[in-house]
Amino acid sequence: MTNTAPYPTSLLNDGDIRVLLLENIHTDGADFLRGKGFQVETRDGALGEDDLIEAIQGVHLLGIRSTTYVTEKVLAAAPDLLAIGAFCIGTNQIDLAATTRQGVAVFNAPYSNTRSVVELAIAEIISLARRLHEKSTDMHNGVWNKSAAGSHEVRGRTLGIIGYGNIGSQLSVIAEALGLSVVFYDIDDKLALGNAKRCSTLEELLAISDVVTLHVDGRPGNAGLFGDEEMSQMKPRSLFLNLSRGIAVDTAALRKHLESGHIAGAAVDVFPVEPKRQGDQFESDLRGLKNVILTPHVGGSTEEAQQDIGRFVASKLRSYASYGGTSLSVNMPEINLPSDASKHRLALVHRNAPGVLATINGLLGEHDVNIEAQSLSTRGEIGYVLTDVADDSAPRCCGSWLRCPRRCAFVS
Ligand SMILES: NC(=O)c1ccc[n+]([C@@H]2O[C@H](COP(=O)([O-])OP(=O)(O)OC[C@H]3O[C@@H](n4cnc5c(N)ncnc54)[C@H](O)[C@@H]3O)[C@@H](O)[C@H]2O)c1
Repeated sequence: MTNTAPYPTSLLNDGDIRVLLLENIHTDGADFLRGKGFQVETRDGALGEDDLIEAIQGVHLLGIRSTTYVTEKVLAAAPDLLAIGAFCIGTNQIDLAATTRQGVAVFNAPYSNTRSVVELAIAEIISLARRLHEKSTDMHNGVWNKSAAGSHEVRGRTLGIIGYGNIGSQLSVIAEALGLSVVFYDIDDKLALGNAKRCSTLEELLAISDVVTLHVDGRPGNAGLFGDEEMSQMKPRSLFLNLSRGIAVDTAALRKHLESGHIAGAAVDVFPVEPKRQGDQFESDLRGLKNVILTPHVGGSTEEAQQDIGRFVASKLRSYASYGGTSLSVNMPEINLPSDASKHRLALVHRNAPGVLATINGLLGEHDVNIEAQSLSTRGEIGYVLTDVADDSAPRCCGSWLRCPRRCAFVS
């Protein structure tokens, strides 16, 4: 074959596949994989580099959350590794360039916690409008302040959503059900859901919104997206939420506008600098202000989201190991060739170079193997081909360069 990169070779049956799940991944993940016949070992905590290298020997599928770092050194010491499941949203803890060079597929769960973020945003919009946080703090301090002043219903108010992606658009639907009018601004051309109205500029949105909520992604250009100028353009006594990225908001400017009363309340879940460990001191310009709800980056942290993540990532790992499916992989070319039990599936991860498909098909032809379905996809330096061959072709391809003990074989 023309590929020279050290891509993993798997000639395993499902029952031979060894899975290591670290960091207290939701038990639904392990249960699912065991139910498919995989050998699953679970461990509670994260592992440092040396311990991970030791633990990963002979492991085909690795599951981690955000605290285990998969470095180039770990990958180099894991020749059997086929795929990594990040049972979380981010993949910064994985050296993605190294996984790609090594042909190790990476999967995560980018959408499993969107509903949790949306529900927190809704709760906070109502809490801020009713000044719940302030009233509760007063009560804890022994102050009985029974007054309607400054408390509002959200019905009929205008919610301005900046960033109409997975979270922003879901929030739009639920907010409308509560009687809010929704406007949104997105740099991409997004379909408006329900009665939501698209604003063509950020200024237009800020001028008409009673509540402004940020749901943009973390692209570099979004650092400092929302500062003094944007806050000045908000309606007097409006509310502000950020549950997206800490770096997007100038918190010193936000404090200034909260203290002046121009912004009547805020809810912030993400910060430019966040404590690294549980129990570390939290520092922010926003501490100690009235009608400001501060939460420790828990927008997506619910038991339901963890359960969903457990199931979602486990099913991606299973689909890859058993059928070669790469749908929603972070680093692999995407192929979703429907699996067919009556056929043998051959999967090849290869260096993206001219002539690979011709070589495969030439070899299959030489061995009189009939191709029933085939799909090729490339992504940067890596190429990926799934080839389904007829059941009766298998004996002729097994035992030669292209071995096929089951539907899925990785050949280097
Ligand atoms: N607080 C939490 O715990 C938590 C949990 C999950 C996600 N998040 C964060 O929420 C944010 C949104 O997540 P998502 O899944 O909806 O992402 P997404 O990628 O689906 O949507 C982001 C949207 O923002 C738009 N956008 C980007 N930059 C913009 C800009 N400058 N102006 C206007 N629109 C812009 C994009 O076009 C896209 O439509 C992300 O930053 C994510 O990291 C936070």
